[in-house]
Amino acid sequence: VSSVDVPDETAVGIIGAGPAGLVLAHLLKARGIDCVVLELHDREYVEHRVRAGVLEAPTVELLRTLGLADRLDRESLPHRGIQLAFEGRRHHIDFLDLVGRSITVYGQQEVVKDLIAARVDAGDPIVFEARDVEPVDVDTDKPLIRYRHDDEDRELRCQVVAGCDGFHGVSRPYVPDLTVYDRQYPFAWLGILAEAAPTQDELIYASHERGFALYSMRSPTITRLYLQVPADETLDGWSDDRIWSELETRLPTEDGFVLNTGPILDKGITEMRGFVATPMRHGNLVLAGDAAHIVPPTGAKGMNLAIADVFVLAGILDDVITRGRAERLADYTTACLRRVWRAQHFSWWMTSMLHRFGDDPFQRQLQLSELALVTGSVTAARNLAENYTGYPFDDMFGGET
Ligand code: APR
Ligand code: PHB
Repeated sequence: VSSVDVPDETAVGIIGAGPAGLVLAHLLKARGIDCVVLELHDREYVEHRVRAGVLEAPTVELLRTLGLADRLDRESLPHRGIQLAFEGRRHHIDFLDLVGRSITVYGQQEVVKDLIAARVDAGDPIVFEARDVEPVDVDTDKPLIRYRHDDEDRELRCQVVAGCDGFHGVSRPYVPDLTVYDRQYPFAWLGILAEAAPTQDELIYASHERGFALYSMRSPTITRLYLQVPADETLDGWSDDRIWSELETRLPTEDGFVLNTGPILDKGITEMRGFVATPMRHGNLVLAGDAAHIVPPTGAKGMNLAIADVFVLAGILDDVITRGRAERLADYTTACLRRVWRAQHFSWWMTSMLHRFGDDPFQRQLQLSELALVTGSVTAARNLAENYTGYPFDDMFGGET
């Protein structure tokens, strides 16, 4: 979009074209509410950032309802469960049997591509390479967003500013008096994308004496793999050979599971951190997704949580903008935080059960006991399955509060 085509006024100014900002834009459009999305990077960059790839059942249903799941339904990989590996053996956790719903593997950047394409095709504004974005006067009823585009200073007047600009975005500091809950885990994940056919069709979470490893995939020809590494690790010491050799130590099990290797297409390190900032709203500024909270990737919750936030937000914005009920913004934080803390706890629990925390043999025995419980007891397995596949967006625990 060139600057001249971008409106200087809209109902909702959205900062960030990640899953949160883009799904919010589509939810608002479905409710007949105008918005403009301002994104720092160019389209190519945003569409090719390699991130996680597990969609909860409610996330897939929402994308279908919005008419945004055509390619997802053709190309994604439905998984009926996951596997947990420890002490040389693999155990299947069958989500479909346990809770009647399952998960879908489809890369986050594929979701982002589909959402951008649908918006661009409809002629709705997304400004890529919006620089120096700054929310202004958000504590008044005339907020605006200042930014630079094509070397020109621009302003977008709006009723509400939605900060969907990720963990390192600009929006969060505009909420004063934030309470922050922060948990830094003493390790990180080294992730690779490899041109290698997956040898099986479910994820394997492996708790190995040398550290955690995760086997995932993106398509019938692409494998996605992760290794637990120390928190301050850089890619320098990790040649392709070393990565494969470590994966081949941690992943195989006695049942003959083998790993296909192949050219590595992408390598990166992901920090492991739990973070929640509250409140998620100040005046006419709201935060959604990673801008407000992040979880360690072990529970595969990041993208799903971002989408759950904007599901709640779109309903509230409809009341605010269509029905003039400005007071509804006050409900936003509480409506999101219950799910955020459930995801935070689940991600912490998965992380604690599966990773190596130093050499403490007592801790290791506790982990093995927990793993034996989860893979041996239907009640314990059902708890994992229920959390992993995701609670309904509108009614988390089915009517009970
Ligand atoms: N101005 C405009 N856009 C910005 C700015 C800024 N100053 N800072 C960041 N952005 C953009 C980023 O370039 C990115 O495209 O905001 C977007 C935020 O997207 P995500 O980081 O993907 O965050 P979110 O949409 O909340 O989705 C959460 O993303 O980080 C993963 O694993 C996480 O799955 C989770 C999901
Ligand atoms: C991934 O496929 O990238 C992935 C899967 C499961 C996780 C995290 C990442 O828990």
